[in-house]
Amino acid sequence: MSKKLLLSAGIAFSLFFSPFSQAFAAEPTVGERKQVENIAHRGAAGYAPENTIAAFDLAVEMKADYIEIDVQRSKDGELVVIHDTTVDRTTDGTGKVGDLTFEQLRNLDAGSWKGEQFAGELIPTFEEVLDRYHGKAGILIELKAPELYPGIEEQVAEALKERNLDKPQNEKIIIQSFNFESIKKMDQLLPKVPIGVLTSNPKDTTPEALQEFSTYADWFNPSYGIVTEELVNQIHSLGMKIGSWTVRSQEAADFLFEMKVDAIISDYPDYVDPRK
Ligand code: G3P
Ligand code: CA
Repeated sequence: MSKKLLLSAGIAFSLFFSPFSQAFAAEPTVGERKQVENIAHRGAAGYAPENTIAAFDLAVEMKADYIEIDVQRSKDGELVVIHDTTVDRTTDGTGKVGDLTFEQLRNLDAGSWKGEQFAGELIPTFEEVLDRYHGKAGILIELKAPELYPGIEEQVAEALKERNLDKPQNEKIIIQSFNFESIKKMDQLLPKVPIGVLTSNPKDTTPEALQEFSTYADWFNPSYGIVTEELVNQIHSLGMKIGSWTVRSQEAADFLFEMKVDAIISDYPDYVDPRK
């Protein structure tokens, strides 16, 4: 059992025997529905260029609970926020992120591909995203292809520590990756920050695999194609939460509501919560 699970078990035990236990008995709901964390995938990426300040600002305006960001590193060591390992699809440049200096990356237009009204949007730095949004929205940090950037885990940990975002009261930071060695390392570096496993591989949903993930992860975050009610129950019984992606239709959001997941990661925050 992970340290985090032990702590939760202790709290649960105390609450069970407290006179207020009834008040805590029911899951939070919105109307008839279980309350779900609304996570804006790469910002409100359905409406604005992904992983830019325009997309993150819009997500906050749309009252998303979290923004999701992809973190990589420039040739000269700056942590930057971009999804693909090349700049080709989402900027007016070409080449691998890790082969370009920060100055080269910063000179690219990361907005025009989505629409002329976004011309001039830049590739944000990780630190600028932390500074601009912490306290306004949670931040779901994905280490994207960390195997390409040795030592990126220490760098991310340092940036969070400098801002006191590694403390238990700052629960709206989560670190996730498809690279399980990398997130295990993050758990060791920042034991109080929740960790998430990303996968779309059904092989990662066996009881044995889930048990292993639960020794260091707090979230199991699968693509919605492999989500079943049984999987959700298994994850919950291991003390983890489940967030699923990438929702790009109301039907997909409704399916995940029915599955009773804890978080929905969507390009369209209004499919998860129509408060806009
Ligand atoms: O947060 C889940 C999701 O971001 C994982 O896939 O490829 O969009 O980074 P991808
Ligand atoms: Ca991502």
